[in-house]
Amino acid sequence: MTTSPGGRVTAGVLGGSGYTGREVTRLLDGHAGVDLVFTTSRSEAGNPSSARTLAFSQPDEGAVLEVDVVFLCLPHGEAAAWADRIVGHGPRVIDLTADHRPGSGREDGAVYGLNEWNREAVADAQLVANPGCYPTGVLLSLLPLHEAGILDPDRLIVVNASSGVTGAGRVPRADLLFAEVSGDFRAYAWGNRHRHLLEMRALLPGVDLLFQPHLLPVPRGILETMVLPVRDGVDAGEVRRIWASRYEFEPAVLPLEDRLPALSDVVGTDGLALGVTDVADTREPAVMAGAALDNLGKGAAGQAVQNMNAIFGWPTERGIRCP
Ligand SMILES: NC(=O)c1ccc[n+]([C@@H]2O[C@H](COP(=O)([O-])OP(=O)(O)OC[C@H]3O[C@@H](n4cnc5c(N)ncnc54)[C@H](OP(=O)(O)O)[C@@H]3O)[C@@H](O)[C@H]2O)c1
Repeated sequence: MTTSPGGRVTAGVLGGSGYTGREVTRLLDGHAGVDLVFTTSRSEAGNPSSARTLAFSQPDEGAVLEVDVVFLCLPHGEAAAWADRIVGHGPRVIDLTADHRPGSGREDGAVYGLNEWNREAVADAQLVANPGCYPTGVLLSLLPLHEAGILDPDRLIVVNASSGVTGAGRVPRADLLFAEVSGDFRAYAWGNRHRHLLEMRALLPGVDLLFQPHLLPVPRGILETMVLPVRDGVDAGEVRRIWASRYEFEPAVLPLEDRLPALSDVVGTDGLALGVTDVADTREPAVMAGAALDNLGKGAAGQAVQNMNAIFGWPTERGIRCP
């Protein structure tokens, strides 16, 4: 390992030219505790990256095994293959793909990096499975409420989620062309079958979830609105109090006082904004909750940097953009 002088650590990014890799590269480049040693792209090797002075390089196993921490910003499957070659040979690994998340079948040996929930376990992890963008908002909203016992376990939670187009990655696809997406708004992965349900269900056992994603014609950002069936007597104020208490000292989570969140609260940051309102005229008690996050920020790179901060004993907000 080549830990730098002055307590700094060395880091590398595999897949640095993709949407998440570009964002991780930019954050690491500005992180006061990190010397960014490489960021890779096979197709753009030699071209400038999003780091100020570092060009893309070809992935190289020798260089990868020399750094303290490696971020895997690769297609699914490729990350698992790289993790197999790295874990146990020195570097800590933060995997932004679904390859090692709960429900993947490869979760053994990995710590699920839902940072505000699992920070202590992440600190000791050799391999961190960074959560999916959609589950980050849903889980940080619902876990404290589930734990407090205010949700009605016998009724369905409906989550409607919309994501900007960078959520689909940078590989060209005809259905994601500007002319196809601009001015349109569509649901996809219908039928309650999105792969992110695996990790949401794993963290919320026994909770009946219906998750419907939509493609929003903006570059980045996720808005999730959730119909929450609550026990008799529970109102939005109680949800707000539970969030405020759970996240009081969490700089990346911003519970709002009096409204549902919007993309404009969070796009370009590494934070998550939460909001909740009472709803009128329902037969059974319910509240409407909302979560907004940047899919490339808190939904990917920002949370990955928080997990690196946990590993090296740094404050969670170091090097990230809080809302
Ligand atoms: N986009 C999001 O909002 C988001 C949020 C959270 C998590 N994720 C997950 O993060 C991962 C990366 O997503 P992304 O959107 O950043 O993908 P992307 O834009 O398609 O980027 C993929 C990157 O991997 C490189 N790459 C592709 N195949 C490779 C291989 N066989 N070996 C080495 N490098 C390879 C690509 O560059 P070259 O082909 O030039 O090498 C590129 O740099 C995915 O698993 C995704 O599900 C994405």
